[in-house]
Amino acid sequence: MTDPLTRWRALAGTSVLLDGFHALKHAVRFGAEVPVAVTTDRRAALALAGELAGDVRDVLDGLLTEVPEQTYVSLVPRPHPTGVAALAVRPSREANLRALARTPRTAPVVVLDDPRNLGNAGAVIRLAAGFAATGVVTTGTLDPWHPTVVRGGAGLHFATAVERLGVDELPAGPLFALDPEGEDIRGAKLPDDALLAFGSERSGLSAPLRARADHLLRLPMRPQVSSYNLATSVAMTLYHWSATGGAPR
Ligand SMILES: C[S@@+](CC[C@H](N)C(=O)[O-])C[C@H]1O[C@@H](n2cnc3c(N)ncnc32)[C@H](O)[C@@H]1O
Repeated sequence: MTDPLTRWRALAGTSVLLDGFHALKHAVRFGAEVPVAVTTDRRAALALAGELAGDVRDVLDGLLTEVPEQTYVSLVPRPHPTGVAALAVRPSREANLRALARTPRTAPVVVLDDPRNLGNAGAVIRLAAGFAATGVVTTGTLDPWHPTVVRGGAGLHFATAVERLGVDELPAGPLFALDPEGEDIRGAKLPDDALLAFGSERSGLSAPLRARADHLLRLPMRPQVSSYNLATSVAMTLYHWSATGGAPR
């Protein structure tokens, strides 16, 4: 078996960087394949696991190799306070497409139409994981597996299906697009098989997305305010879905 550093260097370009203890914990919990994981302090990392993640402590015990601080710093762009980093195998596009197309769908798919802010995308993936959404689809040029998005998502990309698609490739299902000009969401019941679409931070919903939408919904907002932040809009909408009968219960 090759040593962890050789393995790291061989895999770094094609794998998902899990930055910090919590990202590794989440990824393992949701079934990620983790070929290599390092820490500057194995004892401290396993103590943290004992305290916060007893369910995956033994797996982490088997995965984590202690490396000198200098080596760790050379492997990650920004050292994390927990001194833990790992590489995970990115799920294939085919696997994500299968998960997104599976019927009957028991929880919505979140669609971010041409998002621009990597932090927003990460926050939305974390929300989707928390609400057990089927997936997060982005249209446009942003890579939803960009390291900054993965960092923002705290390793929760593995808890939902994350893929970039064209508007014409979106999975089937009634599409509810969120827009300040829509009908009040408080009067709507969002079905479990819904696609919930949100516009770009800069310009809102694109023309092709609007054309595909079955319903336009607005979140309550006083008239003097132009719009909410993208991730908070997703949070309110998923909350509305859960509060009107959707999972998680
Ligand atoms: C920052 S906003 C976009 C603002 C953009 N300047 C515009 O012209 O729409 C990002 C997205 O969040 C959602 N959003 C924000 N505020 C909303 C509201 N009050 N009702 C429904 N959706 C909202 C929409 O999907 C919107 O496209």
